Amino acid sequence: MRIDILCLFPETLESPLDQSIIKRARERGLVNIVVHDIRDYTRDRHRTVDDYPFGGGPGMVLKPEPIFEAVETIKQQLDAGEIPVILLTPQGRLFSQRVSQELAAQSHIMLVCGHYEGFDERVCEHLATDEISIGDYVLSAGEIAALVVLDAVVRLIPGVLGSECSAGSDSHSNGMLEYPQYTRPQVFRDWSVPPVLLSGNHSEIAKWRRRQAILRTAKRRPDLIEKGSFCDEERKWMSENLSNLK
Ligand code: ADE
Repeated sequence: MRIDILCLFPETLESPLDQSIIKRARERGLVNIVVHDIRDYTRDRHRTVDDYPFGGGPGMVLKPEPIFEAVETIKQQLDAGEIPVILLTPQGRLFSQRVSQELAAQSHIMLVCGHYEGFDERVCEHLATDEISIGDYVLSAGEIAALVVLDAVVRLIPGVLGSECSAGSDSHSNGMLEYPQYTRPQVFRDWSVPPVLLSGNHSEIAKWRRRQAILRTAKRRPDLIEKGSFCDEERKWMSENLSNLK
């Protein structure tokens, strides 16, 4: 998979792209991440990327010319046809595990990071194919939002996590939060690991984990439970156990 990131502060991305899972995925050739400075696509002496909003108001707006120039030049160089051009903006559709699965299925995406008061609307209307928000809050740097999207997508690329750790059991991959996890020591400060996890009984362990996931999701994210799918046995257990959650 290839991911192009277009931004104003490329240095922000350097360290996170050079650590841990993303670093290894790049080194192993599983993902090709290329960062571009939008200022390199300006044509004036001051490398201007923003300007005052027509109609007045606070802040600055990202000009359309350098962003069009950047996206079109990169596409031309790669002979890339229709690839997703995704703006990171608080006005976008909400990012989720489902959206990251959708993006991980692509062979090439472009992420364009905003700043200041956002993009000139012509970028949104005539260049972008998608707009994504990572949550209902406003960041000062779109690079941070791009890193969130990138990290969530890269770990889904086949081979990136290795066979021993699977993205399939992550929170949200099945629409639920993940069950509690424990490691050694078996007793820490008088707090013991739940005995079922030491029993070696894999079907009992699977059942306990599933119920814990349901319990945790019901307590913390009841909105997810409403959308979940459960078998008859689980529904019965839920009606007996979820009615008096604190
Ligand atoms: N840029 C600023 N805030 C953002 C957000 N919440 N999501 C994506 N990009 C952003």
